[in-house]
Amino acid sequence: PATFETLIVETRGAVGLVTLDRPKQLNALNSVLIRELVGQLRAFDADPAIGAVVITGSQKAFAAGADIKEMAELGFVEAYIHDFLGEWDAVARTRKPLIAAVAGYALGGGCELAMMCDFILAADTAKFGQPEITLGIMPGAGGTQRLTRFVGKSKAMEMILTGRLMDAAEAERVGLVSRVVPAADLVEEAVKVAGKIAGLSRPIVMMAKESVNAAYETTLTEGARFERRLFHAMFSTDDQKEGMAAFIDKRSPDFRNR
Ligand code: CAA
Repeated sequence: PATFETLIVETRGAVGLVTLDRPKQLNALNSVLIRELVGQLRAFDADPAIGAVVITGSQKAFAAGADIKEMAELGFVEAYIHDFLGEWDAVARTRKPLIAAVAGYALGGGCELAMMCDFILAADTAKFGQPEITLGIMPGAGGTQRLTRFVGKSKAMEMILTGRLMDAAEAERVGLVSRVVPAADLVEEAVKVAGKIAGLSRPIVMMAKESVNAAYETTLTEGARFERRLFHAMFSTDDQKEGMAAFIDKRSPDFRNR
């Protein structure tokens, strides 16, 4: 098994559980952490035993942002040549379902990382924000784009221009998170939801994820056409036949991921 400097990686049945583990730095996302996270997500994508993945942090912080100490002396040419933050995109390209389980601070890159996941389950202690402006920068890992799509222009502008944080109740009200749960139950609940997804047909789940994501990339007409093509393709799977037969027979389906 791989060993990590900045992560704890476990499996719970068919669920991969990644815990960001730089507690003293409030899980500040340095280059080692991102490299380890991206590598592990690729490994889970390739692992036939895994059906869904949960990313979580500590009770105090999901992640307090990109590592400011690592960034402080960065220059333009170095940032450009190495495409600083570009490798984070791999998180959003993960093909299996990815749930962010957020307790405490999800700030800057921490909020951006959570938004790269397919949905966010929040503890009642969660606090979301893009405080980069107070450091003399702006979000650089998708925050200006994803937060705007999640919560709309007015709220995204206010948060990004002022750095104001949003609590869990507000985040749920505006649709940034799917649900709020008590902090003590967060990881258990996220693993349970991921386990439910992992028990469904793998290819169908992956196509559903791909289709929802198309909504962010294209027009309604093109998106609906893309959806319908994938929907038609589902009728070539054994799992569609099994799912419908099980309903008609009043039994639980036995999906074989094919
Ligand atoms: N980078 C590096 N170190 C960080 C960090 C970060 N983003 N956030 C916290 N830390 C470190 C602190 O420096 C401190 O380390 P020391 O003990 O060595 O001083 C330790 O974590 C604990 O932090 P605090 O003492 O500040 O804890 P607190 O409870 O008083 O405050 C906090 C918590 C409000 C989250 C505060 O830590 C904070 O404001 N952090 C920075 C948040 C931020 O600005 N994030 C955006 C980063 S830029 C970015 O992410 C760019 C992008 O788009 C990708």
